[in-house]
Amino acid sequence: MNYTQAKQLLDQYGQSHVLKYYDTLSPSRQQHLLEQIENLNLHHPHFQNPTASTQKRGTFAPMDAVTLDDIRKNQKKYRDIGIQAIREAKVGAVLLAGGQGSRLGFNHPKGTFNIGKTRDLYIFQCLIQNLKKVTDEADTYVPLLIMTSEDNDAETKAFLQEHDFFGYSKDNVEFFTQETEPAISEEGKLLLKTPDEIIRTPNGNGGWFLSMYRAGMMHLIEDIGIEWLNVFAVDNVMQQIADPIFLGAVIDSGCVSGGKVVSKANPDERVGVLCLEDGKPSIVEYYEMTEEMRILRNSDGTLAYRFGVILNYLFRVDALQKTLQLDFPLHVVHKKIPYMGEDGIIIKPDKPNAYKFETLVLDMVHMQDSCLAFEVERIKEFAPMKNAVGVDSVETVQAILEQNGIVL
Ligand code: UTP
Repeated sequence: MNYTQAKQLLDQYGQSHVLKYYDTLSPSRQQHLLEQIENLNLHHPHFQNPTASTQKRGTFAPMDAVTLDDIRKNQKKYRDIGIQAIREAKVGAVLLAGGQGSRLGFNHPKGTFNIGKTRDLYIFQCLIQNLKKVTDEADTYVPLLIMTSEDNDAETKAFLQEHDFFGYSKDNVEFFTQETEPAISEEGKLLLKTPDEIIRTPNGNGGWFLSMYRAGMMHLIEDIGIEWLNVFAVDNVMQQIADPIFLGAVIDSGCVSGGKVVSKANPDERVGVLCLEDGKPSIVEYYEMTEEMRILRNSDGTLAYRFGVILNYLFRVDALQKTLQLDFPLHVVHKKIPYMGEDGIIIKPDKPNAYKFETLVLDMVHMQDSCLAFEVERIKEFAPMKNAVGVDSVETVQAILEQNGIVL
């Protein structure tokens, strides 16, 4: 694409401000900017109407789960099946670490956050220690595939190398980088980071399988013979990874996917709930639930829509392959995104100023024919760190770790 073509395209979509500094750039930086413009896909509807929902929802119904009681009764059976699958190298773990962690306000990869009080205890360290408990028991390693973003890839790798992967075998760790999507201002304008750099942000955690695929990781999956991928969020410090009981229960159920869930503490808890949508597994967000759904109860008094997801899923690889052809809904997120202002000075907003666009792993659940909801104990498995203070913050996570006897 040359300058004239770029100008024409940007004019058509009211984005010609992107070329404001073009004449001041060196030829290679001009070329760099033109390449980005060529890859913008400005015809995509979300650029014109960012807040319009692309997702039409169907009819929801509650979904049963394997409850804590059921799991207690079948624990040995599930564990045996799970451990065997791990020993047969049928399981890989996918750590979603490409997020920006903007709510936490920590300017580094979230996994590098130190939650210790009297000693160093990093989030990555907690996660790897949890995984190591399983691999030590199975006496083997589980391939750990870490998704980073362009922004945090180098720092994440350097950090883990510096800490010698917290004792995990580095031959069993692979990295891949997720893709990005341009962000836009509230006025629908593309934003510049530098005179020749258009702001793009990580495109959400739903793109993990496609990014893995594009990174050529399917060869690895096929060579090893991995049949199941356990996908999990970086910010749940109590995350149990490649949990043999979960794995065994999902394999035993014949479902093609599984999701760990916790019982909602009350009808108003702001958590997505695993349920059925038009007869298929799905996750309904708290803000999508009607009042009737929120308070609906079973005959035993429990909430009908009570199984909240904690971003820990198992997917069968062959079922995932089918999602590569499907369109994911785009979710718009209102975020604080620093950008270069009119006068070339970087503006760091103190409130959300722009929209970024994300696909979500939870939409992948609805693309599956079946999903086993697997209940876990909140206190033992759910300590998300999202905010600097208040709900799901450093303080609440530290309290949960201490309740579990972990010295901080
Ligand atoms: P969140 O939805 O909490 O997003 O991510 P975030 O970007 O980390 O944090 P905020 O919203 O800016 O404060 C849930 C999980 O999905 C991963 C995160 O790293 C976390 O493990 N994620 C999120 C990605 O891997 N890529 C993304 O683009 C977004």
